[in-house]
Amino acid sequence: MNTLTDTFGRTFPYLRLSLTEACNLRCSYCLPDGWRAQGKPGWLTLDEIGRLLRGFAAVGLRKLRLTGGEPSLRRDLTEVIAQAAATPGLRKLALTTNGCVLARRVDAWRSAGLTALNVSLDSLRTDRFTAITGHSYHAELMQAIDHSLSLGFDAVKLNAVLLGDLNDDELPSWLEYLRERRITLRFIELMRTGDNQAYFTRHHRSTEALIQPLIDQGWRELPRAEDAGPARELAHPDYHGRIGIIAPYSKDFCRSCNRLRVTAKGDLRLCLFGEFGIALRPLLQHDQDLPDLVARLSGQLAYKQAGHRLHEGETGLTRHLASVGG
Ligand code: GTP
Ligand code: 5AD
Ligand code: SF4
Repeated sequence: MNTLTDTFGRTFPYLRLSLTEACNLRCSYCLPDGWRAQGKPGWLTLDEIGRLLRGFAAVGLRKLRLTGGEPSLRRDLTEVIAQAAATPGLRKLALTTNGCVLARRVDAWRSAGLTALNVSLDSLRTDRFTAITGHSYHAELMQAIDHSLSLGFDAVKLNAVLLGDLNDDELPSWLEYLRERRITLRFIELMRTGDNQAYFTRHHRSTEALIQPLIDQGWRELPRAEDAGPARELAHPDYHGRIGIIAPYSKDFCRSCNRLRVTAKGDLRLCLFGEFGIALRPLLQHDQDLPDLVARLSGQLAYKQAGHRLHEGETGLTRHLASVGG
């Protein structure tokens, strides 16, 4: 089996595929003015996605995450999941969603072959959720998350971006929430993007400060799996739930990078904060282009850099995370 390997010896079994750049929310750190189309949308079609996944399967794809924008805005999401589930060699098929249609769709996604689910939930408080996202379906979302826990997913995770003065005082309520639920809550450190510079200055808080109090209360860090995402995970014997910390500014964060991204229009991105995209779409039109696609994927890995340069204020192409699926 071929694998994608870069010049730093890292391998890439994990693909994050964005299905659309569109989003219906207005998260204050991401799309505060809402999403607006730039040029023709033209997201990858089901056929193009099928060829893309066959290409990645040939170079060792093990885990696929469908992202956006908001992936559930695509009407064919269930078909995309069913098609992706048949990819040879795939062990995990995950979705990251804001949960806007979770209540109505999660059963169909699970039946189609989805194995893991990440849902954005920045606060346990309805008023704060509405203030951060611009939407008011918090109560329905909380119920849909509990329902999702009964569907036999390998993992259900929640994403809360840690925001100074907006939601950084909720640890006690989160701990109560995690006591009986088999769910992983991840605190994500706010990342600076092209569009959120002033917001970042106001609300960025380091997630490092969360770890010691958790250790003091008996939480312990778990070993990292080969295909794991970027979170450090902690568990506690008295809690069914777990806590993940995603700290992109921490030392060595990029050393364990195992993931590549493809945008909704079919550009390969070697890094979330990379400087350029490599067009794959021309190679997704005919089945006979598969060998060229595989060669392009392997060849491009030589250009993957050691890590992002967020510390230096460099945000690369990324104006907001909705454009590349985070
Ligand atoms: P798991 O595989 O379940 O651990 O998921 P994940 O954390 O990889 O996926 P998710 O889509 O839930 O992303 C959570 C957060 O991690 C988002 O804010 C992403 O932008 C961030 N993230 C994921 N991969 C990277 C990365 O390579 N670099 C940086 N800087 N952030 C990342
Ligand atoms: N910093 C950190 N996380 C972000 N997300 C979106 N924008 C940012 C940012 N600037 C999160 C969303 C979602 C996940 C995919 O990325 O809240 O949970
Ligand atoms: Fe939409 Fe996700 Fe950005 Fe929120 S963080 S505006 S849900 S893409």
